[in-house]
Amino acid sequence: MITSKKKVIHLIHQILKLNLVFFIITLINSFIPAQTSVQIPHLEIQTSGSTQLIVHGQPFLMIGGELGNSNASDLKFMEWIWPKLDTIGLNTVLVPVYWELLEPEEGEFDFSLLDGIIKKAREYDMHLVLLWFGSWKNSMSCYVPQWVKTDQKRFPRAVNEQGRGMEMLSAFSVNNRKADARVFTELMKHLKQIDGKDNTVVMIQVENEIGMIPQARDRSKQADDEFSKPVATELISYLQKNKNKLIPAFYDLWGENGFKTTGTWQDVFGVGPVAEEIFSAWCYARYVNDIAEQGKAEYPLPMYVNAALIRPNYKPGQYPSGGPLPHLMDVWRAGAPAIDFLSPDIYFPTFAEWCRRYHQSGNPLFIPEVALDENTAANAFYAFSQHEAMGFCPFSIEYLADPQNAKLSKVYYLLRQMSTFILASQGKDKMRGALLDEVNQRDTLEIGEYRFNIAHDYTFAWAKHAEGPWPRVGGMIISVAPDEFFIAGSGIIVTFETNPPGKATVGIASIDEGKFVDSKWIAGRRLNGDQSHQGRHLRIPTTDIGIQRIKLYTYK
Ligand code: DGJ
Repeated sequence: MITSKKKVIHLIHQILKLNLVFFIITLINSFIPAQTSVQIPHLEIQTSGSTQLIVHGQPFLMIGGELGNSNASDLKFMEWIWPKLDTIGLNTVLVPVYWELLEPEEGEFDFSLLDGIIKKAREYDMHLVLLWFGSWKNSMSCYVPQWVKTDQKRFPRAVNEQGRGMEMLSAFSVNNRKADARVFTELMKHLKQIDGKDNTVVMIQVENEIGMIPQARDRSKQADDEFSKPVATELISYLQKNKNKLIPAFYDLWGENGFKTTGTWQDVFGVGPVAEEIFSAWCYARYVNDIAEQGKAEYPLPMYVNAALIRPNYKPGQYPSGGPLPHLMDVWRAGAPAIDFLSPDIYFPTFAEWCRRYHQSGNPLFIPEVALDENTAANAFYAFSQHEAMGFCPFSIEYLADPQNAKLSKVYYLLRQMSTFILASQGKDKMRGALLDEVNQRDTLEIGEYRFNIAHDYTFAWAKHAEGPWPRVGGMIISVAPDEFFIAGSGIIVTFETNPPGKATVGIASIDEGKFVDSKWIAGRRLNGDQSHQGRHLRIPTTDIGIQRIKLYTYK
């Protein structure tokens, strides 16, 4: 009897000891970040305020491209695309995930297409950004499954001014939101399982080009009811708290009506489409936030939303209204904190202007879509340098003509060489870019002690060029040392001054052309004589795409 009692006491001791050991192990583990949380792609905001995408623990520059809408719906069809993307030199491809194919029957999920795409991306050593074509794609709800499309009682539509349902899910329906959040959550859960370690997928775009059109807000009964209620208190307190930091365009909109902090949407933002658009933005943001938040609870990849931009002089209702547009940035931030940033799809020639409007107030520039045309290559130089873009992705990239010789492929090849160096220069005030054409022939950039007067190559009397409009050209300047700079691009001529001008004359000590191999600079030809206009300038002709390293000196 006594011995068995002793045995029991001994056993209890052992259990306690074991528990203690477990307790200590758990305690130690809680101080070591879980492996996955270290490895998950995430955003890092530097002290300078600039943001980097971190993949496998390293900053990542996304030299990307987005596929045309329907091409990722069939693995067989995609076979010709992968080698082509590889030739262009992409490190990341943006691929839609279609709700209608992921959940063809309610509650039954088919991941085979996505798994096949991830497998292929890995074979080609490429990363993926997934575009969630869920409730909305370019305002419309064409990608919702048929069991959603055909049950409008359960999944209500937005209503137009004539009182008719539109092919757009209403953002005011809990059923709509829950159905989208459920499939999106399944998607994120699945991604974590199959990709939590490899991290082929690095980011998620939630929905695509959200926005009400051809009216600034939904006219359903539910929307009317919400619109007549007071403005959401979360939005008002955000505006009050951030009043001095608001995007100027939004500050002005709010100010026009006297910065009111109580009342309905019309009381606070005025009667008319402006208030209606702000209301739409808020409701879309809340809807999307719920989806992103639930998805992130499963697997917290960075998530963003993209916007269709506004044509000049268009008013709310004439463009997709309430989307993540620059003047609504604050509304989206207040309503969708689970969304990490807002992005532009730039199809207008005013590329630089849209970069500037999205790269403000701490919003990093990431361009998920940009027109694939004769300007794309120049735009890439500019976005990565002047606006420290995290990524740049021409749309329908798979249709780039002659990928072996295309200018864009050459620029991508060069940017990939430079990417470690570009990333290391971000947030340090040592990188600038210019975008020039026949109208904007010159720009002046300042870095440290120097001013760089950068001009279009065609301003040079000896530059040979065909008749017709001047091509858009672009270039970047990055400081390596106080007197030394890398200048990369195509079609640019650079001359030098002190900053501020007139302190001394700036001379060229040397210019080398070259390339980066495994992130190390390998110098090639020494450029002098005619190539530097006998020491007067640095030139990368329009016929060339290159990198030159220049050393400057001053004299009086
Ligand atoms: C912008 C959309 O986001 C894309 O999905 C595609 O429809 C392009 N427009 C077409 O130009």
